Amino acid sequence: MSPIASPAMTSVAPNLTKATEIDTETLYNLLQQPNDFLLLDVRNEDEFQLWRIEGPHTPATLHIPYFFFLEDEAEAVARVAAQAPAGRPVVVVCAKGGASDYVAERLREHGIPAANLMGGMVEWGDFYAVRPAVERPAYQVYQVDRVARGCVSWVFISRGEAAIVDPLRYGRRYLDFLADRQAQLKLILDTHAHADHISTGAELAQATGAPYYLHPYDAIHPFDMVPAQMAYHMLADGQRFTLGELTIEVIHTPGHTLGQVNFLVTAPDGEAFCCTGDNLFIESFGRPDLGGQGERWAPIVYDTIFGIMKTRVPQHAWILPGHYASPAEANAAGLYMKRLRDLWRENRGLHFTDKQSFVDYVLSHLPYMPPQYVEIKRVNIGLSHPDVDTADELELGKNICALEA
Ligand SMILES: [Fe+2]
Repeated sequence: MSPIASPAMTSVAPNLTKATEIDTETLYNLLQQPNDFLLLDVRNEDEFQLWRIEGPHTPATLHIPYFFFLEDEAEAVARVAAQAPAGRPVVVVCAKGGASDYVAERLREHGIPAANLMGGMVEWGDFYAVRPAVERPAYQVYQVDRVARGCVSWVFISRGEAAIVDPLRYGRRYLDFLADRQAQLKLILDTHAHADHISTGAELAQATGAPYYLHPYDAIHPFDMVPAQMAYHMLADGQRFTLGELTIEVIHTPGHTLGQVNFLVTAPDGEAFCCTGDNLFIESFGRPDLGGQGERWAPIVYDTIFGIMKTRVPQHAWILPGHYASPAEANAAGLYMKRLRDLWRENRGLHFTDKQSFVDYVLSHLPYMPPQYVEIKRVNIGLSHPDVDTADELELGKNICALEA
């Protein structure tokens, strides 16, 4: 399992022309800057179409399924060579790193510098990158980014106390991260019961004794109305927490789910941060149909965005979303955060002046809903307990939580 990586502390990418294998952290670092390698994806067509490796600087990508190399190696190698002239290095990826290891070796045999991505898309899907968003003496904010899935969680630390908002699947990584900073976990907060990824909130609470909070509306499965079978504390609109020198206010922001909330974090220096989960993103906003109630919930999204977000969240607050659809949504520091006052202008999904046109737009731009999203919600309220392989399958691919552009 990959550790949480801090890009600022990672080493310089190796010379790819000599490497025979690279890990996910190295690949992540390569994607952060202009590069000239060729990415060769040897998975099957359906897997390649479902999701692929991308970053701020996605390399040229060639797709040749593994079996092509078995059936006609000369032809497959010739296709790679045509895309990789003059010693251009190739990084080969498959699902788990086995088939790609074979292909990389065959390419090297033919004189093409090729490195295998160890662990393949499974490891890539599990890679987390941590970036400091704000570091002040009185408090710090960190972005934890599960880059392959476009899932973001946020960690707040103040005076040795920590809160995690929307913890992603591998809770141990957060605990190691907090231990490094000598911070004690005090609060575990979910903005809503997620459909696209498995939350580790309840599990972290069990492991640490820190309370796990969720809005009670989201502790009922929206499809079969079965209530949660896990321990959690109920969030309520207007509820407040203190974390060191930070205050955290709960703002009920229904629409994406009925129990969706925002966490408005206010700092002693006057800065404010609003964890919006799947309410507002940097681009677009959260779809209302993952509970099977798109027509009913779309008008609620309008009321939340154009009512609650305009009146109860300070316009200077930094919006810290739970997802992104593209790495292009990050700022130059790789952070998915933007002040609310700027979002009204820059987020084209917010350029509406009346409710009916907003609802019409929403209902005509709903993306495909992965069927596993129903089951992931069951997992996230304790109704189902998948093993690791099943959990991997449930979480496969990028999130599809935003409306289509
Ligand atoms: Fe969601």
